[in-house]
Amino acid sequence: MRDHFEIRDHDAAGRIGRLEVPRAGVTVETPALLPVVNPNVLTVEPRRLAEEFGAEMLITNSYIIRSTDRIRDRVLEEGLHDFLGFDGAIMTDSGSFQLAEYGDIDVTTEEIIEFQRRIGSDVATPVDVPTPPDVDRERAERELETTKRALADAEAAETGEMLVNAPVQGSTFPDLREGAGRHASATDLDVFPVGAMVPLLNSYRYAEVVEAVRAAKRGLDPDAPVHLFGAGHPMMLALAVAAGCDLFDSAAYALMARDGRYLTVSGTEHLEEMEYFPCSCPVCAAHTPAELRELDGNDGDTEQLLAEHNLHVTFEELRRVKAAIRSGNLLQLVDRRARGHPAMLDGLRTLLDHADELERTDPASKDAFFYTSHESARRPEVRRHHDRLSRLAVPDRLLLTESDAPSNHDYDAVWRVKPPFGPFPRALSETYPLTAEVPERVDGAAQVAAAEGVASLADANPETEITLGHDDWVPRAVDAVPERVETENLRHLGR
Ligand code: GUN
Ligand code: ZN
Repeated sequence: MRDHFEIRDHDAAGRIGRLEVPRAGVTVETPALLPVVNPNVLTVEPRRLAEEFGAEMLITNSYIIRSTDRIRDRVLEEGLHDFLGFDGAIMTDSGSFQLAEYGDIDVTTEEIIEFQRRIGSDVATPVDVPTPPDVDRERAERELETTKRALADAEAAETGEMLVNAPVQGSTFPDLREGAGRHASATDLDVFPVGAMVPLLNSYRYAEVVEAVRAAKRGLDPDAPVHLFGAGHPMMLALAVAAGCDLFDSAAYALMARDGRYLTVSGTEHLEEMEYFPCSCPVCAAHTPAELRELDGNDGDTEQLLAEHNLHVTFEELRRVKAAIRSGNLLQLVDRRARGHPAMLDGLRTLLDHADELERTDPASKDAFFYTSHESARRPEVRRHHDRLSRLAVPDRLLLTESDAPSNHDYDAVWRVKPPFGPFPRALSETYPLTAEVPERVDGAAQVAAAEGVASLADANPETEITLGHDDWVPRAVDAVPERVETENLRHLGR
């Protein structure tokens, strides 16, 4: 891996970074969305993608250019930037997607990398093999070997200043993905797309998308720029960023518009069935759904304007994700998105299965932690607090209580208890994440997490005599408190 990527800010495994693209002479801020531009059909002019939508980078397909007589020579002559009218960074794909769709393409990695260099691509792609999900292991392994050879061919090619993608494949086998990530990281290639995600993305299998991304990330260098190939639905951007992806590309804005579909942050609607627009982008502000349906081409084109709305919501969500990383509330945004669609909830739950991995890059301090659902109880901050508890000094006789400290008592110390974190010395009350905003009506998941905090403290201090005063915890939370801790239900004591 060469060094073109700088990480500026972290939240969970998400980050704001800067990808230097030397051949284009630009630095692209990540997370970045690369609109897919079909070289034959410019649904939205690339110049407008930059000026009106803020796209700093786009992606097009060198294989389509190479196999279309009408445009090949023009692109070779003018160069890709002039041909498209875009002076930002341009990534090109290799035909691998066509390989996956049609089973065969007539180009090698060596030839297509050379072609990408000649047309002026800024980030090229070798001919990797996008092994679909759910295949047998033998096929996934065999195709991964082919992808590894493609990466070796790309390393051997003359690329000059052009960056090169090192796609990470492995189908739905996490160990193969991890191995593929480790292998890709050891090459001198530059950008690391997680590949063959389109079938999972199209069927909203976000839990498996998260598993594949996390597996690839375990193999990749933590500083590697990671692209989620084919992902760009606004609903899942926050989730994918929180899992550690930096670059996205999407044809969804244009493909969906062709089918009359309207993207939102909680799913996809059909223009045909809409009575109101929930959005205030220039398209939605100027039209009602009925008006947009009835455009006749003179005042604009339904498909084109729908594509523009789709881009507006997608870039808007990307800005929201970046702002959330800056404030440190990205997981709260993911939680909000997870309420919009059950498939997203599966994605969030899977992400939180990896809270220990997220914890490594999660900042120690940020804006207040908001407890917004029982998934909040599994956030990395809760785990970190539990780990920290085992390292705090404790006296011989300790009272942990959810109520205010009793004015007279015969304990050596009285600590606060706050679900989902559990116990802590009062002196830590003003430090992150214990400043958390938690609802008055705490749920069972938060109480269980707090009980686990009590257990962590008790396990680390077997000699300490511990009493816990809790505010009417659910039985499974009380059961999670170790036997030797004496418990009192404050509600029964009337406190
Ligand atoms: N576009 C979407 N998925 C893929 C992939 O796995 N490889 C390549 N090269 N392009 C893609
Ligand atoms: Zn809109």
